[in-house]
Amino acid sequence: MSCKGLFLTFEGPEGSGKTTQSAMLARRLEGAGHRVLAVREPGGTAVGEALRDMLLNHPDQPLDVRAETLIFAAARAQLVTEVLKPALDQGRVVLCDRFADSTLAYQGFGHRQDLSLLRPMIEYATCGLEPSLRILLDIPPADGLARRLTEEHKDAQFRLADADTREWNRMDALDLSFHQRVHEGYLKLAGQDPEHWLIVDAKGATATVHARIWDGVSVLLPKATEAIV
Ligand code: TMP
Repeated sequence: MSCKGLFLTFEGPEGSGKTTQSAMLARRLEGAGHRVLAVREPGGTAVGEALRDMLLNHPDQPLDVRAETLIFAAARAQLVTEVLKPALDQGRVVLCDRFADSTLAYQGFGHRQDLSLLRPMIEYATCGLEPSLRILLDIPPADGLARRLTEEHKDAQFRLADADTREWNRMDALDLSFHQRVHEGYLKLAGQDPEHWLIVDAKGATATVHARIWDGVSVLLPKATEAIV
Protein backbone atom coordinates (compact mmCIF):
# COMPACT_ATOMS: atom_id res chain seq x y z
CA MET A 1 0.00 0.00 0.00
CA SER A 2 1.63 3.28 -1.03
CA CYS A 3 0.88 6.65 0.58
CA LYS A 4 2.34 10.13 0.86
CA GLY A 5 2.66 10.44 4.63
CA LEU A 6 4.97 8.97 7.18
CA PHE A 7 3.72 6.14 9.35
CA LEU A 8 5.51 5.63 12.68
CA THR A 9 4.47 3.12 15.30
CA PHE A 10 5.38 2.79 18.97
CA GLU A 11 5.86 -0.72 20.27
CA GLY A 12 7.05 -2.18 23.53
CA PRO A 13 6.19 -4.16 26.63
CA GLU A 14 3.81 -2.92 29.31
CA GLY A 15 4.94 0.22 31.09
CA SER A 16 7.51 1.15 28.46
CA GLY A 17 6.18 4.71 28.23
CA LYS A 18 4.81 4.55 24.67
CA THR A 19 1.83 6.75 25.34
CA THR A 20 3.88 9.52 26.95
CA GLN A 21 6.54 9.35 24.26
CA SER A 22 4.01 9.33 21.45
CA ALA A 23 2.41 12.51 22.84
CA MET A 24 5.83 14.18 23.21
CA LEU A 25 6.85 13.28 19.67
CA ALA A 26 3.50 14.54 18.33
CA ARG A 27 4.03 17.90 20.03
CA ARG A 28 7.60 18.18 18.75
CA LEU A 29 6.55 17.34 15.20
CA GLU A 30 3.67 19.81 15.30
CA GLY A 31 6.06 22.43 16.61
CA ALA A 32 8.26 21.74 13.59
CA GLY A 33 5.30 22.37 11.27
CA HIS A 34 4.22 18.83 10.45
CA ARG A 35 0.60 17.81 10.30
CA VAL A 36 0.35 15.00 12.82
CA LEU A 37 -2.23 12.42 13.75
CA ALA A 38 -1.71 10.34 16.90
CA VAL A 39 -3.87 7.29 17.57
CA ARG A 40 -3.73 4.13 19.63
CA GLU A 41 -4.41 0.47 19.03
CA PRO A 42 -6.72 -1.15 19.73
CA GLY A 43 -8.90 1.93 19.42
CA GLY A 44 -8.93 5.13 17.42
CA THR A 45 -12.42 4.54 16.01
CA ALA A 46 -15.80 4.02 17.69
CA VAL A 47 -15.74 0.33 16.75
CA GLY A 48 -12.10 0.03 17.80
CA GLU A 49 -12.74 1.54 21.23
CA ALA A 50 -15.68 -0.83 21.79
CA LEU A 51 -13.45 -3.76 20.81
CA ARG A 52 -10.70 -2.42 23.11
CA ASP A 53 -13.12 -2.50 26.00
CA MET A 54 -14.12 -6.05 25.12
CA LEU A 55 -10.49 -7.14 24.87
CA LEU A 56 -8.91 -5.48 27.84
CA ASN A 57 -11.38 -4.62 30.53
CA HIS A 58 -12.99 -7.93 31.39
CA PRO A 59 -10.10 -9.99 32.69
CA ASP A 60 -12.53 -12.24 34.53
CA GLN A 61 -14.14 -13.39 31.24
CA PRO A 62 -12.12 -16.08 29.45
CA LEU A 63 -11.31 -15.20 25.84
CA ASP A 64 -10.10 -17.80 23.37
CA VAL A 65 -6.69 -16.75 22.03
CA ARG A 66 -7.81 -17.01 18.39
CA ALA A 67 -10.88 -14.91 19.16
CA GLU A 68 -8.61 -12.41 20.92
CA THR A 69 -6.27 -12.29 17.93
CA LEU A 70 -9.09 -11.74 15.47
CA ILE A 71 -10.67 -8.99 17.58
CA PHE A 72 -7.35 -7.12 17.65
CA ALA A 73 -7.23 -7.58 13.86
CA ALA A 74 -10.80 -6.33 13.44
CA ALA A 75 -10.05 -3.17 15.40
CA ARG A 76 -6.94 -2.67 13.24
CA ALA A 77 -8.83 -3.17 9.96
CA GLN A 78 -11.34 -0.51 10.97
CA LEU A 79 -8.55 1.88 11.99
CA VAL A 80 -6.69 1.39 8.71
CA THR A 81 -9.74 2.13 6.57
CA GLU A 82 -11.35 4.85 8.63
CA VAL A 83 -8.35 6.76 9.94
CA LEU A 84 -4.84 5.68 8.95
CA LYS A 85 -5.15 5.41 5.19
CA PRO A 86 -6.99 8.74 4.74
CA ALA A 87 -4.48 10.55 6.99
CA LEU A 88 -1.50 9.07 5.19
CA ASP A 89 -3.05 9.90 1.82
CA GLN A 90 -3.26 13.52 3.01
CA GLY A 91 0.49 13.39 3.72
CA ARG A 92 0.25 13.47 7.51
CA VAL A 93 2.76 12.07 9.96
CA VAL A 94 0.80 9.33 11.68
CA LEU A 95 1.89 8.07 15.10
CA CYS A 96 0.24 4.85 16.20
CA ASP A 97 0.61 3.61 19.76
CA ARG A 98 0.91 -0.12 18.86
CA PHE A 99 0.13 -1.75 15.53
CA ALA A 100 0.45 -5.17 13.89
CA ASP A 101 3.78 -5.96 15.53
CA SER A 102 1.96 -6.07 18.86
CA THR A 103 0.01 -9.03 17.51
CA LEU A 104 3.22 -10.80 16.50
CA ALA A 105 4.80 -10.04 19.89
CA TYR A 106 1.83 -10.72 22.18
CA GLN A 107 -0.27 -13.32 20.37
CA GLY A 108 2.66 -14.80 18.43
CA PHE A 109 5.54 -14.91 20.88
CA GLY A 110 3.54 -14.37 24.09
CA HIS A 111 0.66 -16.77 23.41
CA ARG A 112 2.72 -18.96 21.08
CA GLN A 113 0.43 -18.61 18.07
CA ASP A 114 2.03 -19.60 14.78
CA LEU A 115 3.61 -16.54 13.17
CA SER A 116 3.13 -18.01 9.71
CA LEU A 117 -0.65 -17.98 10.32
CA LEU A 118 -0.64 -14.54 11.91
CA ARG A 119 1.27 -12.79 9.14
CA PRO A 120 -1.29 -13.36 6.33
CA MET A 121 -4.12 -12.51 8.72
CA ILE A 122 -2.35 -9.21 9.50
CA GLU A 123 -1.78 -8.54 5.81
CA TYR A 124 -5.51 -9.04 5.20
CA ALA A 125 -6.54 -6.77 8.08
CA THR A 126 -4.14 -3.96 7.17
CA CYS A 127 -4.39 -4.19 3.36
CA GLY A 128 -0.62 -4.51 3.54
CA LEU A 129 -0.08 -1.17 5.30
CA GLU A 130 3.26 -1.25 7.10
CA PRO A 131 4.99 1.36 9.24
CA SER A 132 7.96 3.25 7.82
CA LEU A 133 9.54 2.82 11.25
CA ARG A 134 8.66 0.99 14.44
CA ILE A 135 9.97 2.66 17.57
CA LEU A 136 10.58 -0.10 20.09
CA LEU A 137 10.72 1.22 23.63
CA ASP A 138 12.89 -1.37 25.26
CA ILE A 139 12.47 -2.04 28.95
CA PRO A 140 12.85 -5.26 30.96
CA PRO A 141 9.30 -6.58 31.48
CA ALA A 142 9.57 -6.69 35.27
CA ASP A 143 10.58 -3.01 35.35
CA GLY A 144 7.75 -2.03 32.99
CA LEU A 145 5.10 -3.88 34.97
CA ALA A 146 6.40 -2.41 38.21
CA ARG A 147 6.32 1.07 36.67
CA ARG A 148 2.67 0.62 35.67
CA LEU A 149 1.72 -0.68 39.08
CA THR A 150 3.43 2.06 41.04
CA GLU A 151 2.45 4.95 38.81
CA GLU A 152 -1.13 4.09 38.07
CA HIS A 153 -2.47 1.42 40.32
CA LYS A 154 -1.39 1.96 43.87
CA ASP A 155 -4.74 1.16 45.34
CA ALA A 156 -6.62 -0.94 42.80
CA GLN A 157 -5.58 -3.89 40.70
CA PHE A 158 -8.15 -3.41 37.98
CA ARG A 159 -9.54 -0.21 36.56
CA LEU A 160 -12.29 0.43 34.08
CA ALA A 161 -11.39 1.71 30.65
CA ASP A 162 -10.68 5.37 30.43
CA ALA A 163 -9.32 6.87 27.25
CA ASP A 164 -7.18 9.31 29.22
CA THR A 165 -5.53 6.87 31.60
CA ARG A 166 -3.67 3.62 31.29
CA GLU A 167 -5.47 0.56 32.54
CA TRP A 168 -4.34 -2.44 34.50
CA ASN A 169 -5.80 -4.85 32.01
CA ARG A 170 -6.22 -8.45 30.88
CA MET A 171 -2.77 -8.52 29.31
CA ASP A 172 -1.02 -7.04 32.35
CA ALA A 173 -2.53 -9.79 34.43
CA LEU A 174 -0.58 -12.50 32.56
CA ASP A 175 2.46 -13.94 34.27
CA LEU A 176 5.99 -12.61 33.97
CA SER A 177 7.16 -15.41 31.65
CA PHE A 178 4.51 -14.30 29.13
CA HIS A 179 5.85 -10.75 29.22
CA GLN A 180 9.40 -12.05 28.88
CA ARG A 181 8.44 -13.94 25.72
CA VAL A 182 6.80 -10.74 24.40
CA HIS A 183 9.95 -8.75 25.12
CA GLU A 184 12.23 -11.33 23.49
CA GLY A 185 9.82 -11.51 20.55
CA TYR A 186 10.08 -7.78 20.00
CA LEU A 187 13.86 -7.95 20.01
CA LYS A 188 13.74 -10.81 17.53
CA LEU A 189 11.39 -8.94 15.17
CA ALA A 190 13.59 -5.85 15.34
CA GLY A 191 16.73 -7.91 14.77
CA GLN A 192 15.24 -9.48 11.65
CA ASP A 193 14.45 -6.13 10.03
CA PRO A 194 16.75 -3.49 11.57
CA GLU A 195 16.11 -1.00 8.78
CA HIS A 196 12.49 -0.64 9.88
CA TRP A 197 12.98 -0.71 13.65
CA LEU A 198 14.50 1.80 16.04
CA ILE A 199 15.32 0.21 19.39
CA VAL A 200 15.27 2.86 22.11
CA ASP A 201 16.39 2.32 25.68
CA ALA A 202 13.22 3.28 27.59
CA LYS A 203 14.93 3.57 30.96
CA GLY A 204 15.82 7.02 32.24
CA ALA A 205 14.14 10.41 32.29
CA THR A 206 11.23 11.03 29.93
CA ALA A 207 13.13 13.86 28.20
CA THR A 208 16.19 11.65 27.70
CA VAL A 209 14.10 8.92 26.09
CA HIS A 210 12.39 11.52 23.90
CA ALA A 211 15.80 12.79 22.73
CA ARG A 212 16.80 9.25 21.75
CA ILE A 213 13.60 8.91 19.74
CA TRP A 214 14.02 12.28 18.08
CA ASP A 215 17.53 11.37 16.97
CA GLY A 216 16.15 8.34 15.14
CA VAL A 217 13.03 9.95 13.73
CA SER A 218 14.24 13.38 12.67
CA VAL A 219 16.50 11.93 9.97
CA LEU A 220 13.44 10.48 8.25
CA LEU A 221 11.44 13.67 8.16
CA PRO A 222 12.77 15.81 5.31
CA LYS A 223 12.64 13.02 2.78
CA ALA A 224 9.33 11.55 3.83
CA THR A 225 7.30 14.68 4.47
CA GLU A 226 8.87 17.43 2.43
CA ALA A 227 5.62 17.89 0.53
CA ILE A 228 3.66 18.98 3.58
CA VAL A 229 6.03 21.02 5.75
P1 TMP B 1 -1.67 -0.55 25.84
O1 TMP B 1 -1.62 -0.10 24.41
O2 TMP B 1 -2.26 0.42 26.74
O3 TMP B 1 -0.39 -1.12 26.29
O4 TMP B 1 -2.75 -1.75 25.90
C1 TMP B 1 -2.99 -2.61 24.92
C2 TMP B 1 -2.79 -4.03 25.39
O5 TMP B 1 -3.21 -4.91 24.35
C3 TMP B 1 -1.35 -4.37 25.71
O6 TMP B 1 -1.32 -5.26 26.79
C4 TMP B 1 -0.90 -5.11 24.48
C5 TMP B 1 -2.15 -5.77 23.99
N1 TMP B 1 -2.20 -6.01 22.56
C6 TMP B 1 -2.10 -7.30 22.07
O7 TMP B 1 -2.00 -8.26 22.84
N2 TMP B 1 -2.16 -7.50 20.72
C7 TMP B 1 -2.31 -6.49 19.82
O8 TMP B 1 -2.35 -6.71 18.61
C8 TMP B 1 -2.38 -5.12 20.35
C9 TMP B 1 -2.54 -3.97 19.41
C10 TMP B 1 -2.32 -4.93 21.71
